[in-house]
Amino acid sequence: METRTALVTGSTSGIGRATALKLARDGVRVVVSGRNAQRGLEVVEQIRAEGGEAHFVAADLRDAQTAADLAAKATKVAESAGGTLDILVNNAATGSGGPTEGTIEATFDAVLGTNLKAPFYLVANLAPAMAARGGGAIVNVSTLAADVALPGLAVYGAGKAALELLTKSWAAEFGPAGVRVNCVRPGPTRTPGSEALGDFLQQLAAQAPLGFVADPADIAAAIAFLVSDEARFVTGVTLDVNGGRTAV
Ligand SMILES: NC(=O)c1ccc[n+]([C@@H]2O[C@H](COP(=O)([O-])OP(=O)(O)OC[C@H]3O[C@@H](n4cnc5c(N)ncnc54)[C@H](OP(=O)(O)O)[C@@H]3O)[C@@H](O)[C@H]2O)c1
Repeated sequence: METRTALVTGSTSGIGRATALKLARDGVRVVVSGRNAQRGLEVVEQIRAEGGEAHFVAADLRDAQTAADLAAKATKVAESAGGTLDILVNNAATGSGGPTEGTIEATFDAVLGTNLKAPFYLVANLAPAMAARGGGAIVNVSTLAADVALPGLAVYGAGKAALELLTKSWAAEFGPAGVRVNCVRPGPTRTPGSEALGDFLQQLAAQAPLGFVADPADIAAAIAFLVSDEARFVTGVTLDVNGGRTAV
């Protein structure tokens, strides 16, 4: 079987990094991406040391243009290696949170630019080629904060909730051409990005039946399933990976 190529945004750290490693272990060629080239190259090196294939493409995802540039570069990487860009994981995100009052417009625009507009234009640039080839898989990474109200995460949660709706829209739009689009909605997960939350992360985890903070690999496993052929009848879903937090 031909090696599939995946673009994983925000794979220099945390959940994206774990996803890149997992997909590579599953035999997928991975385009690692993020702003920090040093950390990106470390991920590439680790994948290669394990016998996998990976390439780094730097990107600061903010808007339609930066998304289009990354889509073009990632496609070129796939084609140079004799493949096609078959998988997209929209994982990169930003958002430190804060009360609604006092949220300046620049923050609002920056959070939605990276978390919503960039994924939209990555799909707009990559899904049509997948559809023309008759197959592909896309996973969007959402958050518990898109489903339940978490104080201080209004803008971040709203952008991710919109991404969940886009997941269904795209499943309907590209499904007839064989492209599946799903979403993973992680609960509290220990990553460099969530470190700043301190004790709040464990307090949040304690509200769920399983009670523990996830490892990035727990989320990566769900993403890897959804992009795999094992999930060929699954599209348009948002999968909670949160220790049961929304079951109670
Ligand atoms: N950790 C949690 O508890 C948790 C819970 C629910 C949902 N999530 C979601 O899971 C995903 C990953 O989170 P994480 O905790 O793994 O975060 P993280 O450790 O902070 O990693 C974030 C990644 O996104 C990249 N990124 C941020 N801004 C970017 C930009 N403007 N352009 C390109 N890349 C950018 C970062 O790359 P550079 O630093 O190299 O730019 C990094 O690779 C996010 O979508 C987040 O919303 C996380």
